[in-house]
Amino acid sequence: MNTNIKSELLKRMAGGKEHPISGQQLADEYGVSRTAIWKYVKELESEGYEIGSIRKKGYYLIDSPDSVSSAAIQQYVDSENYGKTIRHVESCPSTQLLAHAEAQSGAPDGMVIIADEQTAGKGRLSRPWSSAAGKGIWMSVITRPKLMPQQAPQMTLVAAVAIVRAIEELTDVTPSIKWPNDILVKGRKLTGILTELQADPDRVKAIILGIGMNVNQQLEDFPEDIRGIATSLSIEEGKPINRAQLTAKVLSYLELYVTLYVEKGFAPIKLLWESYADSIGKRVRISTLQESYEATARGISEDGRLEVVLDDGTVKGIYSADIHII
Ligand code: BTN
Repeated sequence: MNTNIKSELLKRMAGGKEHPISGQQLADEYGVSRTAIWKYVKELESEGYEIGSIRKKGYYLIDSPDSVSSAAIQQYVDSENYGKTIRHVESCPSTQLLAHAEAQSGAPDGMVIIADEQTAGKGRLSRPWSSAAGKGIWMSVITRPKLMPQQAPQMTLVAAVAIVRAIEELTDVTPSIKWPNDILVKGRKLTGILTELQADPDRVKAIILGIGMNVNQQLEDFPEDIRGIATSLSIEEGKPINRAQLTAKVLSYLELYVTLYVEKGFAPIKLLWESYADSIGKRVRISTLQESYEATARGISEDGRLEVVLDDGTVKGIYSADIHII
């Protein structure tokens, strides 16, 4: 199945009844038969798209399902590499597992694995990640930046900035970032990022960015134990959100900021990140497996650690912990 033709069809049919796309024209452009185009139209209809046709003029889109199929996303993708190859699955335990296998067999930079549903979605520190069917964006992006393995944790912060920019551009929601990987709205969790690495001792082979975005859930779609701490874009915005368009926007900013990070270092990302961070200047409680203490958050360091000032004035860089603003 040629996803390019399908996504091109979707793009060109978006002009509505006034601007139908001629099946013959598309067939000529892609060097396929008109019947082939008609088959793509039928296939899109079977995926839930409502398509009108005007004799001798062509096809036009009446309504689209909220789909994250490759074609649905690719009609919006404007990045160079990120999202050019998309593997969409209906259900899987975790897109991270599929992405690791793809990366090992040579997947290209920017390949995306996206699922409608995950049955064993995983969060940071081996926590479960609730991934309701058809409601969120559950994806893993395989990236191959020219970085040293020790630079990998900063990619979480790069991804966080990209996601916030995409949300800001497509909605009226103003999210903030909680170090290291939470994107929050009014203190509730909207998005989590799980960064995993495949590396040689001196070189990154692949960084797999697992992104879980709560998009079209209502509160009752969340498991009871997280209803008090989770939210979705649609709850905050008060209307459904087009997941395919948002996915493409995230990929576009991700490519932009990963490139910026690789070419110019962490300084520009640090500035952006700090402008969105909700904890800077605030009192926080820091909890690790070993200890729990209070301090004041000061910023992030060049290597992505959270810098806090202890009560005796000492500055400490934190590599991994749970942070609560108090
Ligand atoms: C966290 O906040 O703890 C990170 C959550 C990451 C969830 C995403 S959903 C897509 C990808 N697949 C997974 O199993 N996890 C990540």
